[in-house]
Amino acid sequence: METKVTVGVVLLLLCLCGGAACAAGRSGGEFSIVGYSEEDLASHDRLIELFEKWVAKYRKAYASFEEKVRRFEVFKDNLNHIDDINKKVTSYWLGLNEFADLTHDEFKATYLGLTPPPTRSNSKHYSSEEFRYGKMSDGEVPKEMDWRKKNAVTEVKNQGQCGSCWAFSTVAAVEGINAIVTGNLTSLSEQELIDCSTDGNNGCNGGLMDYAFSYIASTGGLRTEEAYPYAMEEGDCDEGKGAAVVTISGYEDVPANDEQALVKALAHQPVSVAIEASGRHFQFYSGGVFDGPCGEQLDHGVTAVGYGTSKGQDYIIVKNSWGPHWGEKGYIRMKRGTGKGEGLCGINKMASYPTKDN
Ligand SMILES: *[C@@H]1O[C@H](CO)[C@@H](O)[C@H](O)[C@H]1NC(C)=O
Repeated sequence: METKVTVGVVLLLLCLCGGAACAAGRSGGEFSIVGYSEEDLASHDRLIELFEKWVAKYRKAYASFEEKVRRFEVFKDNLNHIDDINKKVTSYWLGLNEFADLTHDEFKATYLGLTPPPTRSNSKHYSSEEFRYGKMSDGEVPKEMDWRKKNAVTEVKNQGQCGSCWAFSTVAAVEGINAIVTGNLTSLSEQELIDCSTDGNNGCNGGLMDYAFSYIASTGGLRTEEAYPYAMEEGDCDEGKGAAVVTISGYEDVPANDEQALVKALAHQPVSVAIEASGRHFQFYSGGVFDGPCGEQLDHGVTAVGYGTSKGQDYIIVKNSWGPHWGEKGYIRMKRGTGKGEGLCGINKMASYPTKDN
């Protein structure tokens, strides 16, 4: 079969970052699943009350009264959008999350961006020319797969105010293949990648999963999350922080724009994927099978950890790094079978996975 290996990808994933907003957790059940009720929309007083509750819940602090009033206007506009969409779509729903006081432009400008990568050296490219899972026949592909149920996925993490999604995406895929091969699920260090994997990657200012896989394969492995904890900023590479405990042999790119290839890879292990996550719907996603709208300008790195079908709708299960309070406990189910090669939000465009051959 023809295998396409992505070489010289022309962007770094700059990552949508949760920000301080991401770090703040939802507390208790005073809010409904979407964070408001229809009655809240009925009067100005109820809206103010809802806003004050939201401000308290996410520990928002505004510099001035004027700023707070401005944020209230944005909040109302977002709430109208959320309610509007919730009335129209049936497959998924949006909610008042941490991003509810940001305009969509602010959201995109603050948490997104693209940086052209430095020229990539082929000698440092560990990718094999072979897509090993392509040999699996279509009939052999399981109907569903969920690596969370097979003890191959760690808890949902939070990148906070740092464009380090690429490190979280990489680490989740490595944690997965390590658990599958060794039977030992160990949480590994994103911070080590942020501090040390600087060849092509740019810490909190973006990076690419393939560069990080390449770094791990060539340097003898990653340290644990515990030994090299997350600092939410780039620091000096500190190899004195414990011993490298998990290594990989290399990585391979899933043939681009080929959904069945991605599913075959997912049947074997969690896979790093890139998506466009800058859409207003994505910003407020709270649950269900997401089916867009979104474009295919890749700006966020996440990890696909399985796939399944709900009410006849095929989806891919994606682990995000905005904490456990965004989406479905930190996950999003993204529709499969869009009929477009790139897949929903471009998810089929740049998938890759680490290999561990013993
Ligand atoms: C799993 O791996 C970690 C890191 O190497 C190690 O500390 C732990 O003891 C291992 N657990 C088991 C059950 O082998």
